[in-house]
Amino acid sequence: MTPATIQSHPWIADRANRFDSSGIRRMFDLARQLKNPVNLSIGQPDFPVPDAVKEAMTRAIAENKNGYTSTEGIPPLIDRLQSRIDAQLGQSDRRVMVTSGTSGALSLALMAMVNPGDEVIFFDPWFVMYPALVEMTGGVCVPVPTTPGFQIDLNAVENAITAKTRVIIVNSPCNPSGACLDENILRGLAELAARHNVCLISDEIYSLFVYDEPHRSPAPFNDQVLVIDGFSKSWGMTGWRVGWAHGPSQIIDAMARIQQFTFVCAPAPAQWAALAALETGMQPQIDHFRQRRDRAIRALSPAYDIVTPGGAFYIYPRLPWGTGEQFMRAAIDRELLVIPGNIFSASDTHFRISIAVADEVLDRGIELLLDLAKSPA
Ligand SMILES: Cc1ncc(COP(=O)(O)O)c(C=O)c1O
Repeated sequence: MTPATIQSHPWIADRANRFDSSGIRRMFDLARQLKNPVNLSIGQPDFPVPDAVKEAMTRAIAENKNGYTSTEGIPPLIDRLQSRIDAQLGQSDRRVMVTSGTSGALSLALMAMVNPGDEVIFFDPWFVMYPALVEMTGGVCVPVPTTPGFQIDLNAVENAITAKTRVIIVNSPCNPSGACLDENILRGLAELAARHNVCLISDEIYSLFVYDEPHRSPAPFNDQVLVIDGFSKSWGMTGWRVGWAHGPSQIIDAMARIQQFTFVCAPAPAQWAALAALETGMQPQIDHFRQRRDRAIRALSPAYDIVTPGGAFYIYPRLPWGTGEQFMRAAIDRELLVIPGNIFSASDTHFRISIAVADEVLDRGIELLLDLAKSPA
């Protein structure tokens, strides 16, 4: 979506030049240059993988469970996920497969359903991977703005749908806004997708990170919704690359065919660890994140215009002055790292901070942000 700004090597295909390299990665490069940064730019939990899950991983390696698995995942993990999904949704044609992270599931879903020129609707602000993956599959990005409270305007979605619309991607709780969509909006979106015969992909990677109300999905309202989720955030195992997708069996079949010739399977020992993860409660970690959210919102609200996030582990305040770039530079001058909102949005009006950091780091970050709100100097 962002025009290429880098000088391309002649061997590089157009698809690799169609999107800018992630601004988040630029932040990581900058972070490396700072001696002692207060880093609020990171999108992964700061809690460690629970011991029982680590042990399951090392046990699997020691027991030589290191080879390829079946394309769709190890049977005990599939069975466990399938029975959970059946108990939650009770839909007869809903099947699950294990993927290489939620990103893997997203990639397979778009490769399976988007032909070149097809339109994919997602919401502004968006998760950075959505436009990149749509571009890579030859699709056309159709970002639809959200309301000032980051909810979805169903009329705007209906107006954005054309004969070429193939997929709508929804993400609740949302990265970067932390917004949880109202149940009536999720229902409306699910019904709208059914009425227009387009696939609704629901990215539920933050489903465990909900602070005020239970997590809600559009899947109960439309049995054709493709749900993707993963172990990365919920059990702090971002580097282990295990996710899952469930939806209509024909779509899962098509995704599995593509997985067979791309990712092959999710890492074998990590799938055994994922099985242990499903038995490992994370409520204490979630409660700790809720406390951090509350503390950060209480401290920052007098100085910033903030929609309180109901989930995920991000806060997405409005910029108090200047552009995202100017604000980010002033933050870096104070050794503070945040992410400018124009990475997630067509507008340059907000910035993202992560609360998935040690309490002392969050407290230092809050102090710096309060100072920064006053003026650029
Ligand atoms: C909204 C959203 N979806 C998907 C992912 C990808 O997660 P993973 O591939 O680690 O499961 C992320 C990671 O930041 C995310 O924020």
